[in-house]
Amino acid sequence: MSAAGHALGILGLTKRYGSFTAVDDVSLDVGQGEFLTLLGPSGSGKTTILMAVAGFVAPTAGSILLDGREITPLPPEKRNFGMVFQGYALFPHMSVAENVAFPLRVRGLSRADREAKVRAALDLVQLGAFAERLPKQLSGGQQQRVALARALVFEPNLLLLDEPLSALDKKLRAELQEELKALHRRVGRTFVNVTHDQEEALSLSDRIAILNHGRLIQAGAPGELYERPRTRFVADFLGKSNFIEGAVATADAAGFVLAAGTARIAVRAPAAPEGTRRLLSLRPEKIALLAGEEAADNVVEGRILAWSYLGSGFALRVETASLGELRATLPAWQAAFAPAEGLPVRLGWSAEAAVPVEEDAP
Ligand SMILES: Nc1ncnc2c1ncn2[C@@H]1O[C@H](COP(=O)(O)OP(=O)(O)O)[C@@H](O)[C@H]1O
Ligand SMILES: [Mg+2]
Repeated sequence: MSAAGHALGILGLTKRYGSFTAVDDVSLDVGQGEFLTLLGPSGSGKTTILMAVAGFVAPTAGSILLDGREITPLPPEKRNFGMVFQGYALFPHMSVAENVAFPLRVRGLSRADREAKVRAALDLVQLGAFAERLPKQLSGGQQQRVALARALVFEPNLLLLDEPLSALDKKLRAELQEELKALHRRVGRTFVNVTHDQEEALSLSDRIAILNHGRLIQAGAPGELYERPRTRFVADFLGKSNFIEGAVATADAAGFVLAAGTARIAVRAPAAPEGTRRLLSLRPEKIALLAGEEAADNVVEGRILAWSYLGSGFALRVETASLGELRATLPAWQAAFAPAEGLPVRLGWSAEAAVPVEEDAP
């Protein structure tokens, strides 16, 4: 299979059902060969966007572009996109090879051409030895790999995936995530994936687009979204976060000091005028447990309200005098202490750790 990534453009895409807006003016570019994930809670418009890209949903407004050419009026079969869904939509009475050959039969390829391409596609998903089996003789993960082979066998312009792993159990899902990532590297095609699973999005994607209420909130590389979330929703949906609200007390070239409750929080970020209300996102894993007199840019004292053992470390809920409740996660190597409810602790974090975020539009 030749590597041939195509670029997808989504421009001002809007879909209304009556007075309800399922997709609200979404614009997004997906680069050649990129793995882009649409991430958002249930009902945020992910499937509707994917269906509009595939041609099964007619946009109320906006356009879909392939390599810069408008394809909005094209019917699905003229777009040549591969699709994989959550359910294993394999034909139960056909063998694995017949399932994978199906899109080639529809396209009128000769038997010899079909056989060669089916073999290559099954090898691609490492199911070459299973060609003659029926779908029911395969595990869930293997069935999804057949669905992937069937979606790739005709060398599609794009591969569209709608929660393809969500029906699998946790271990199988992790395995297939790695498989999907390797597959993307091998075929070099553009993948657009949909999920509500933030870990899947972080581990698989070149870029993630975060949606809420049909709106695109932020798009970027996984690390960029995680480290520099633009809004409270992004910080909360992608990973966990503490939120600290206050007013800018002083500001200089290096950053500002936020007055929050009785605390003064040093923040290294572009300064805002004194008195401005700011909201900070502080990841639990950026908070450290300080020993004795150990110093940090920011230090608060409190008592453990509750704790749980994670194997890889501890998750603490700490009631602080100055900032209310904070969540902190400590890696096992740092947690050479015995957590207990009511235990006094000192927490610290650096001035870079808390990042300013905006409140989301209602
Ligand atoms: N055909 C339809 N008619 C009316 N409402 C719809 C239709 N399809 C989707 N919706 C609504 O649009 C919103 C977005 O749906 P969807 O794109 O399926 O979300 P997601 O895939 O993110 O869970 C939901 O509130 C859903 O109920
Ligand atoms: Mg959906």
